[in-house]
Amino acid sequence: MRVKGQTAIITGGASGIGAESAVFLAKEGANIVLVDLNSCAKTIGKIRSTNADAQVLECLGDIRDAEFVKATVARASDTFGELHILVNNAGTCGRLSIEDMTMDVWDRDLDTNVKAAFLFIQAVVYPHMMEQKYGRIINISSISGINGGVSSGEGDSSRRSGPAYSASKGAIIALTKWVAKELGEQGITCNSVAPGATATGITSGVAYDLSKQVVKRMGTPGDIAEAVLYFASPESSYATGQVLQVDGGYNFG
Ligand SMILES: NC(=O)c1ccc[n+]([C@@H]2O[C@H](COP(=O)([O-])OP(=O)(O)OC[C@H]3O[C@@H](n4cnc5c(N)ncnc54)[C@H](O)[C@@H]3O)[C@@H](O)[C@H]2O)c1
Repeated sequence: MRVKGQTAIITGGASGIGAESAVFLAKEGANIVLVDLNSCAKTIGKIRSTNADAQVLECLGDIRDAEFVKATVARASDTFGELHILVNNAGTCGRLSIEDMTMDVWDRDLDTNVKAAFLFIQAVVYPHMMEQKYGRIINISSISGINGGVSSGEGDSSRRSGPAYSASKGAIIALTKWVAKELGEQGITCNSVAPGATATGITSGVAYDLSKQVVKRMGTPGDIAEAVLYFASPESSYATGQVLQVDGGYNFG
């Protein structure tokens, strides 16, 4: 049990990568705080079937709301005490072109994928992780934040992850490095996992060109959760400011 007795907050815990990360962390003994707009009942069921003793707190609301973030972190701390792990995972992905982009979609993607992550970092680090002199922050970015958007389907550029999404995922990578530099001396690491095409709600109905990958299959949420678990564990203390691409070797060959 690599994170036994530790507490992990996971945003976007109702489905996909967040749900699987919660299951992996619970299996390794962590108390889990699931945050999402939607019910996390399915995730809770899966957690209990893996670890019947797992302690789970569900916090439903919109992570773009600063007051909700503060209240969630306070509830987590009141329930479990010290907070050790933060997985900023919840995300939205607009696929509109430059021409069609609306400010609603732009703001939604930037606020969910970057602002909310910052709000959680701020609330969890000060005072919790700073007082403990220990913390593991994992931000889920994307290879879209590195390469400018993943093409999904021949000649179908409108289905590429959009400009707001790419910008937000590039920003979360920069934020990861900034936070890592700021907090390294306090025993707090901050790393990012950058998934490639992974079979979840966000990619449902999108046909990816797997010929660009060395490993010619879609990723599973478990593929990504393995990397989250590494950065969440005490053993990763010498790794910070890193971006681990888990993408089947996209554009590598
Ligand atoms: N699936 C992929 O191919 C892929 C690739 C690269 C990066 N990612 C990233 O992985 C992360 C997880 O996505 P996923 O693939 O599991 O998709 P998903 O749609 O299954 O999960 C996203 C979750 O975030 C929640 N959420 C969205 N906005 C929210 C808000 N404002 N407040 C609270 N909860 C909110 C949703 O309700 C949902 O449960 C995202 O950051 C996404 O950008 C996914």
